[in-house]
Amino acid sequence: MSVLFSEGRIGGISIGNRIVVSPMCQYSAVDGVAQDWHLVHLGSLMMSGAGLVILEATAVEAAGRGTHGCLGLYDDTQEAALTRLVGALRKLSPAKIGLQLTHCGRKAATRTIPERWRGEPLPPEEGAWTPVAPSPIAYDPDWQTPDELDEAGILRIIDAFADSTRRAARAGFDLLELHGAHGYLIHQFLSPITNRRTDRWGGSAENRNRFAVEVVRAVRAAWPRERALGLRMNSTDWTPEGSTLDDAVALAAALEAEGLDYVVMSSGNIRPGIAIPPATPGHQVPFAQAVKEATGLAVMAVGMIVEARQAEAIVTTGAADFVALARPMLDNPRWGIHAAAELGADIAYPPQYIRARPNNWLGFRHVHPQANPPASTLQLDRPRSVASWDRPETPGRR
Ligand SMILES: Cc1cc2nc3c(=O)[nH]c(=O)nc-3n(C[C@H](O)[C@H](O)[C@H](O)COP(=O)(O)O)c2cc1C
Repeated sequence: MSVLFSEGRIGGISIGNRIVVSPMCQYSAVDGVAQDWHLVHLGSLMMSGAGLVILEATAVEAAGRGTHGCLGLYDDTQEAALTRLVGALRKLSPAKIGLQLTHCGRKAATRTIPERWRGEPLPPEEGAWTPVAPSPIAYDPDWQTPDELDEAGILRIIDAFADSTRRAARAGFDLLELHGAHGYLIHQFLSPITNRRTDRWGGSAENRNRFAVEVVRAVRAAWPRERALGLRMNSTDWTPEGSTLDDAVALAAALEAEGLDYVVMSSGNIRPGIAIPPATPGHQVPFAQAVKEATGLAVMAVGMIVEARQAEAIVTTGAADFVALARPMLDNPRWGIHAAAELGADIAYPPQYIRARPNNWLGFRHVHPQANPPASTLQLDRPRSVASWDRPETPGRR
């Protein structure tokens, strides 16, 4: 029995299996509004076999966008487009649909470098705006120095998180993830590298955590209790000057008390120039396991989870409850369907693609020699309905 393909729960929602499509910025929005690209890209990932698909980092205010192409959820046009998108995605598969909310803080107002797919500061002639941050420290010497947020600015952004949350609830998302990692605004408050404040928002760990705690409190109050709420956290800044795994575990426990349902443990990117050990398969799994052992939160592991058996081992050993995959899903948007075949698990298929299922296509075994599809999916060429997503036929059943 595959654990990867067993049902999981986060807060009040049930998820068909333990595979999550990790949020991935597409830099393809116009004025923060989702486009046809989002439907095609996410539609394909809805048919990956994952139990949960989380949409990319979506800004809670215009100044919090990373680039001109980032999604936003702070006006009615953006909300209408996401409402349509969620409605369309729902028709494609039973996967649950999540949204990641963010504010980029000092890492706002950038443009991507396509061949390296990383940011550089947006030049003034391309409409750069001045970013905001806990402290006026630029990400890199050639990046803009952000304006230091005052008390009113901090409270405005907390309100913006709550406002976008109400919009996400109306749009129909099942799950909301707050981006508290990778050097974006929530993380900028948490880390002593970027937070040099001396007021109630800086200094001690309790003060640096305050922004994250207040955001979670405001969002939880605005988000239906039965829907899932999570935080992407930085497990470590990979330098003794920064936040550590102990800090992350303590924060996770504090946020559990605020009604958070899950965390996903990532790391890095608070500032350039920090030596990070090379990513190896499952390199961030121990971080997920540390939170799992210390709290009652559901926990996702992310980063270099590439193979079905590796993913199965992570959830079977209890190191994490879910595995989140990003690039493996871009590489192979049927990752979950192939993983099911390899692990001998049943999985629902889009009826339109049913002819490529192991039971309907002898070629499957040639393309996927490692596959071990369950016997129930190996009855060849039986006619079946295309009316809805179906389960494998059991022998003798039509
Ligand atoms: C194209 C791309 C866009 C990404 N955008 C986001 C994002 O919007 N939010 C986020 O938290 N992480 C983002 N990430 C990081 C991934 O979610 C994931 O944590 C990381 O790629 C490691 O997982 P992987 O080894 O499965 O790719 C992005 C990664 C990629 C490749």
